[in-house]
Amino acid sequence: MDNKPIIALDFSDISELEDFLSHFSHEQLSVKVGMELFYSQGPQIIQTIKEKEHAIFLDLKLHDIPNTVKRAMASLSRMGVDMVNIHAAGGQAMMEAAREGVKQGTPAGQKEPILLAVTQLTSTSQEQMRREQATALSVRESVLHYARLAYNAGVDGVVCSALEAASVCSITDQSFLRVTPGIRPEGSEKDDQSRVLTPFEAKQAGATHIVVGRPVIQAQHPFLAYESVFKEWKGEISDDN
Ligand code: C5P
Repeated sequence: MDNKPIIALDFSDISELEDFLSHFSHEQLSVKVGMELFYSQGPQIIQTIKEKEHAIFLDLKLHDIPNTVKRAMASLSRMGVDMVNIHAAGGQAMMEAAREGVKQGTPAGQKEPILLAVTQLTSTSQEQMRREQATALSVRESVLHYARLAYNAGVDGVVCSALEAASVCSITDQSFLRVTPGIRPEGSEKDDQSRVLTPFEAKQAGATHIVVGRPVIQAQHPFLAYESVFKEWKGEISDDN
């Protein structure tokens, strides 16, 4: 999977998805398939998207006992997706088991999917962590703690805020991926995201990949919206600035 902006396909309706992808029949995209699309359409959706030759980040955030995660990861890797993920909160043994599962499931001769760990969800507040996770760590400290754990478990990178990307890099290494949602192109709506960065700011802040949903999938002209995000990500000034 290269480092094109990853488009979050947050649809549950197959015709809406088909309509969106029809704007990109000559473009090979990197897309994110989350729980909404996968659980509503079933595993067949992966084949449908692969036939259009888009690279797929299958965002199902596995979290269970190590043996179950290993076997589930083997099944996901068999589908030929390019990126998968787990919750770092499942622990080091679970993350190592996931790595094993990825290896076992990947068909011979094919590249293993990239394995990412989710650190803290952006919906988790400081107060919630104190009350519900019974920890005195700040969100940031916890993200860095989980990033280090994931790195030690042989995971390829983390999903985190671009605001934490540089710190994650400093405690791991350059090749450890920092995949960052919460991205809004210059001048677009924030929707329900609170701390947003532009594609260019995210790059400057140390993100290796960005995930963008609504600014592209709900745009009147999805292809133009995508091109503009891509240009900002590459550091080119977009036409309308
Ligand atoms: O539409 P928007 O660009 O906000 O979509 C961002 C995507 O990234 C959504 O699929 C959302 O679930 C996902 N995501 C996020 N924050 C996280 C992890 C994933 O926004 N911490």
